[in-house]
Amino acid sequence: MKTVTFTKMEDGTEEDYKFLSEHEAEFCHALPDRIMDALENLRNSLSGYKIDRLEHSLQTATRAERDGADIDWIVSALIHDLGDDLAPLNHDSMAAAIIKPYVREECAWVLQHHGIFQYKYYADKIGLNPEERHKYKYSPHFDAAVKFCRDWDQTSFDPEYDTFQLEHFRPLVEEVFRRPAWDDTHIKA
Ligand SMILES: [Fe+2]
Ligand SMILES: [Fe+2]
Repeated sequence: MKTVTFTKMEDGTEEDYKFLSEHEAEFCHALPDRIMDALENLRNSLSGYKIDRLEHSLQTATRAERDGADIDWIVSALIHDLGDDLAPLNHDSMAAAIIKPYVREECAWVLQHHGIFQYKYYADKIGLNPEERHKYKYSPHFDAAVKFCRDWDQTSFDPEYDTFQLEHFRPLVEEVFRRPAWDDTHIKA
């Protein structure tokens, strides 16, 4: 396989960096496949609930879709716990970082803060403040985060719910993660 000529970045030529840019474009084009694989891996993630983390993610996205949410919300709901494996103590920030270049700012903000908004539903049982979310009360995205957690996330632990399977969401994952990154038409929409 072709590689660059350098062993230190400062020695790279224009040709090397042109080659790497093309290589990176191909790699980014395959991002939806890696997102789907990472979602599939959630089957082996945090246990103890009545359903595994993939089922929870699918159910959250299914509820968003049935609620009439747009594609940015559905895909955000689908990946909102993707950080569980590698960033268990700040999984919300990791999910937000993954999707931030491709969706409306409000969706990325809600993913980044959903952990604290979820406190509402259980923090009193573990000695934390259920109203911690109020530190964000002046955020323009506060109401969206309330809805995300109330209607889609905190309700999605039900093994009896009629949840869409992962393949149902593949076209949406492909559409979102193949958008041009940081494009104002999507992130400022
Ligand atoms: Fe979460
Ligand atoms: Fe969740």
